[in-house]
Amino acid sequence: MNLSSKDNKSKTPQHIAIIMDGNGRWATKRGLPRALGHKKGAEAVEEVVKGAKELGVKYLTLYAFSTENWNRDEDEVKTLMGLLREYLKRNLIEIQKNNVKIKFIGELYMLDKDIQDSIKKIEADTEKNDAMTLCIAISYGARQEILSAVKKVVGLVKRGDLSEADIDNKVFSDALYTRDIPDPDLVVRTSGEQRISNYLLWQVAYAEFYFSDVFWPDFNKKHLEKIIEDFNSRERRYGKS
Ligand code: FPP
Repeated sequence: MNLSSKDNKSKTPQHIAIIMDGNGRWATKRGLPRALGHKKGAEAVEEVVKGAKELGVKYLTLYAFSTENWNRDEDEVKTLMGLLREYLKRNLIEIQKNNVKIKFIGELYMLDKDIQDSIKKIEADTEKNDAMTLCIAISYGARQEILSAVKKVVGLVKRGDLSEADIDNKVFSDALYTRDIPDPDLVVRTSGEQRISNYLLWQVAYAEFYFSDVFWPDFNKKHLEKIIEDFNSRERRYGKS
C-alpha cells in the first residue's frame, strides 16, 4: 500500500491513473467516425504522457482497452489495436528521449502475437529508464487481475511456499500485475462519466477521484495541471480522524 504522498500537500501526486473516456462522443459531436475520435485520443496520449512527466508525475497509468472492450464492434477493436501498434512503433524514440519506462498490464495473451512481441521489446528497451513509469492497461480488467492473483497465492500455499497465516496486503499486492508500482494517489476519468469500470479495484483503496467533463481527445497538460492543483487542496486521511 502506498501512503507515501500523505504529507505532500503541495506536491505532484506520485501516481495518477486515468480512465481515458469520450473518444466516441468527441467524434460523434463533430459528425466524424468514432475511429477518428480514437485517433485523436491516441494523439492526446502522447501529449499527456509528455506533460505528466514535465509536471513531475512518477507513475502514470492509462486505461487503453478493457477486457469488456473486446465486445465492441470488430472494426472498432481493429482500429484500437491498429493505434496501439502505431503507438508502439512510432513512440519508442520519443519515449527513450524522455527517459520513460513502459509497462503493460492486462490479459496480454489475448492480444495478437505481433503486439505481444512489440510489448515485450518496448518493456525490455525501456526497463532502465527512470524519469517516469508509463503503465498501459490493455485487455485489462481488475476483477480478472484479482482472480489471477488469488490463483497465484493459492498456488503458493498449495506448494508449501507460503503459509495461509502469512497472506497479507503485501503478499496479495505482489501477486497483482501492478506488483512494482505504488497504488494510485489520484484517479481521473474524463468525459463526465462517474464510474470505475473495473479499473484497478484493489489499488484505488485510498485514491482520490476526479471526474473531468473534458472528452479525452481534448484533454491536455493544462487540464492535468488544474486537477493536480485540486488534488493538493484535499486532505487525505486514509481512514484516520
Ligand atoms: C474510451 O472512449 C476510450 C477507449 C475505449 C480507448 C482509449 C484509447 C485511446 C485513447 C487510443 C489508443 C491508446 C493508446 C495507448 C495508443 P469511448 O470509445 O468509450 O468513448 P465514448 O464513451 O464517447 O463512446
